Amino acid sequence: MNKVSQHGQWSSRLAFVLAATGSAVGLGNIWKFPYITGENGGGAFVLVYLLCIFAIGVPIMAAEIMLGRRGRKSPINTMRDLAKEAGANPFWKTLGWVGVVAGFLILSYYSVIAGWAMAYVVRVASGMFEGVTADGVGSIFGQFVADPEKLLAWHSLFMILTMLVVARGVKGLERAVKFLMPALLLLLVLLVGYAMDQGAFRQAVNFLFSPDFSKLNSEGVLTAMGHAFFTLSLGMGSIMVYGAYLPSKVSIGSTAVIIALADTAVALLAGLAIFPIVFIHGLEPGSGPGLIFQTLPIAFGQMEYGAFFGTMFFVLLVFAAWSSSISLIEPAVAWLVENRKMSRMRACIWSGLVTWLVGIGTVLSFNITSDIKFFDKTFFDVLDYLTANIMLPLGGLSIAVFAGWVMTKEVTKEELNFNKPAVFKAWLFLVKYVSPVAVVIVFLKAVNLI
Ligand code: TRP
Repeated sequence: MNKVSQHGQWSSRLAFVLAATGSAVGLGNIWKFPYITGENGGGAFVLVYLLCIFAIGVPIMAAEIMLGRRGRKSPINTMRDLAKEAGANPFWKTLGWVGVVAGFLILSYYSVIAGWAMAYVVRVASGMFEGVTADGVGSIFGQFVADPEKLLAWHSLFMILTMLVVARGVKGLERAVKFLMPALLLLLVLLVGYAMDQGAFRQAVNFLFSPDFSKLNSEGVLTAMGHAFFTLSLGMGSIMVYGAYLPSKVSIGSTAVIIALADTAVALLAGLAIFPIVFIHGLEPGSGPGLIFQTLPIAFGQMEYGAFFGTMFFVLLVFAAWSSSISLIEPAVAWLVENRKMSRMRACIWSGLVTWLVGIGTVLSFNITSDIKFFDKTFFDVLDYLTANIMLPLGGLSIAVFAGWVMTKEVTKEELNFNKPAVFKAWLFLVKYVSPVAVVIVFLKAVNLI
């Protein structure tokens, strides 16, 4: 098949790898991975997360890219066409719809946190953290999130930035990512170097890499699995819609492996940079979503040229979030353009507005409505749990089932075009049996059914 998407195509394999890595690497790696690792006791959680990335994430990523490229449309229409091609029930299209909703919900809170990162660019640059203590950094963060107007302003700004790029077509960011991702990696290495000098490095390494399974419950296993989907941008159509813009000849399998490796490297480096600071200052690893904002500024306040490096770091973090956020909304925008015959601009305004509105709920959940809880969770916690722990694994499960059981072997083999038959067999085994069974077991365990 040599169809091309109506929304255009990546200029090369490298462009796709960069864009998909840009989507994968974001707040999930640097903000979320460290704090959920802290909340779930460290090593055992990290081990399960890594297992999920490589045994479930990589094969599903190959499947999701493949579906996108085969269909060449927004995930909703792609699923409709592919179900038809396979002679399956048109209901599969629902997978596309669930993905669109998940994308809206994730972006609504993602944008709020990206707003925090933007606020911290200004704060670090202004020298606010010079020589500050751990307590000081904590109270600065506390005051910041207690102020709904500030959070709202930054959330609004981030949403505008996101929609500006999406309006021009997601391919606009591909050139920027080429420089920004390596720069982010370099700064992380520098931070790890700083952390190594601080004395608690061994303790951090132990915390992250020596598994103690008594610290991990089944809820933690679900969180680790959900995060594997989240950090790789899987299960809601982001990667599918990017796959739709992928030239036909490019090998999908090796691309998926490269993206997963890059993504994992960034997350582990972030952990190695943050936990030494946590331990040396006697902070609480499980302190939640504020973790990086309460640790890294201490380092920037103490190291030489800290204001400079700190500003750079948060700027790059904002860019990483930016290149992720555009992929969260692209499936919806592509669908509006295809089915509602809207211009890209109009489609962006509408979907941006809806996301922005839902985001206000998250803004308030850190201050005014922080006491309003459903099942002991704030609005933000509920959104995060519903999307990362439920919707994404379900989406991933459906993608695996569709690719492994519904599509014919001839089609998947042709589209994936692995150079060795054994690799195709291994992939098929993973998406047919391993991923679906693993997801189902983890779900059942989390609700105490087994
Ligand atoms: N993976 C990104 C991160 O780690 C976030 C993201 C982008 C995402 N697109 C997604 C998460 C699709 C889930 C699904 O920051």
